[in-house]
Amino acid sequence: MTATPQPTSQPAPQQIVLVGLSGVGKTTIGKALAERLGWPFIDTDEMVLAREGRTAAALIIERGEAAFRRVEEVIVVEAARRAPVVIATGGGVILSAGNRRALGERGFICYLDATPSEIARRLPSEGQPVRPLVDGDLERRLRELDGERRAYYNHADLWVPVMGGPDEAIETRDRAVARILGAWATDAADLVSRPRRLERLGSDEPARGPAAVVDTGVQRYPIWVAPGELRRLPDRLQQIGLAGRRVFLISDTNVMEAHGRTVADVLDTGRIAGASYVIPAGEASKTQRMAGELYRWLAGERAERRDVILALGGGVVCDLAGYVAATYLRGMAIVQLPTSVLAMNDAAIGGKVAVDLPEGKNLVGAFHQPAAVLSDVSVLKTLPRRMHIEGFAEVIKHAFILDPGLLDTLEANARSLAAGTADPELLAQVIGRSSHLKALIVSSDPQERGIRAILNYGHTIGHAIEQATGYTEYMHGEAVAIGMMGAGRIAVELGILDATVVDRQSDLLRSFGLPLIAPGINVRAVIEAMQRDKKVEQGRMRFVLLEGVGRTVVRGDVPEDLVSRTVQSLARG
Ligand code: GLY
Repeated sequence: MTATPQPTSQPAPQQIVLVGLSGVGKTTIGKALAERLGWPFIDTDEMVLAREGRTAAALIIERGEAAFRRVEEVIVVEAARRAPVVIATGGGVILSAGNRRALGERGFICYLDATPSEIARRLPSEGQPVRPLVDGDLERRLRELDGERRAYYNHADLWVPVMGGPDEAIETRDRAVARILGAWATDAADLVSRPRRLERLGSDEPARGPAAVVDTGVQRYPIWVAPGELRRLPDRLQQIGLAGRRVFLISDTNVMEAHGRTVADVLDTGRIAGASYVIPAGEASKTQRMAGELYRWLAGERAERRDVILALGGGVVCDLAGYVAATYLRGMAIVQLPTSVLAMNDAAIGGKVAVDLPEGKNLVGAFHQPAAVLSDVSVLKTLPRRMHIEGFAEVIKHAFILDPGLLDTLEANARSLAAGTADPELLAQVIGRSSHLKALIVSSDPQERGIRAILNYGHTIGHAIEQATGYTEYMHGEAVAIGMMGAGRIAVELGILDATVVDRQSDLLRSFGLPLIAPGINVRAVIEAMQRDKKVEQGRMRFVLLEGVGRTVVRGDVPEDLVSRTVQSLARG
């Protein structure tokens, strides 16, 4: 799945079909694709208008959705006969097995994906006509549709993330076009000729697949999230084309004590050959010296570039093993097996790997995406309580910056999630959703040139608090929680955020047992730490702020006295 796509001998399909929620950009991206390919562009909603003399919207209002769907099915069959062509489909086309199969006969089906909050933000500014299925509370309705349809959209041959900041509409469109054209030229012929594809498209079953996928346009990898996932390791290695390789397991003392036996059993049963190296648990291991030890171990074991590194552990192991995998032999495959809530939602996903220097954290690193991430939520049972809780700060962060639906779920289940008594399926659903959000952002902006910066919500003050306290007092998630409260206050003072959102944020963080303040912290040291960051940011302190749940803005113009007052208020409590 991660191998560089090789051009295939089969001809590329002469029909590209775009599916996804209303407002995600199917028309804009479809027209741009058609222009690049020199193909005609058609839109099934436009065909409805031509045939019925009224818009899809009017038809639904006048004759009801069922009648509209019948007209749409006839139109889909007609559209599917044409080639070459780019077809933009109405948002609900993919719900019908008949439509899916008709479009799958000749088409390369691409699913354009963005969060409902992002689509709602874009919709009014695009001057779109009223859409009856997304009328009312637009965002809420989009969320419902997203929930109902995602599993059917996932039947598509290609997943195309289209998240972008408010000023990045053109870049977002061009990136999506480049992704689709790249995949069309290299992978599409193989993807559309997969065994039993048409049968699957034509069945009534929703698509089955991993909880999330990262697709950077160069690499594509699955994130599986489920209880018992570790035991599936041999099958997963097979699925991603890494069976039969030797594995080099890197873990730490704590994790090996808790899960070493299980992993050894899994590797034995799967007849997977390899070796393991156990580092002392803790941030102090995330150094170039430790990386050097690991290089020498790999050299002694005669590890080859085709072999695989397995990282079993929390953030330190994910980052260190990732750094070693990025650099040893100029890059080996790595499979991340995160064992903490924090690592499952953050460190294991995204490809940023690094070691620390005495001068600062994560100063030496690389972008090196894993071949897969396996998040076994059953291992979280053995996590110490404080570590368990801190990880939810990143989940809560994802909810506030991207997903009001996830926020509702967290609010409804805070007690059991925080106590570690939640049903494993619920835990898997929450971590899966949060992983999907991170994957969506990373896939939209793998090198952090734009929208990926929003993942730093709460981190400007949070990192500074960690640094000012020598990384000993606050765990990362705790510092991020305090940083989120700081960012919330700044946004309210700037007049861009309603105070009720900050109340919601503090209530949720509190109900998870996360800190909201850093009493007695050295304010000057925190500000200085932020100012050091400021140099790195070309002279501007950058804050990710909320304008509402699911709506972020990056501001480089927050007045210094407001920052200073905010940190003081966090220190006072
Ligand atoms: N490895 C963490 C990230 O890429 O964000």
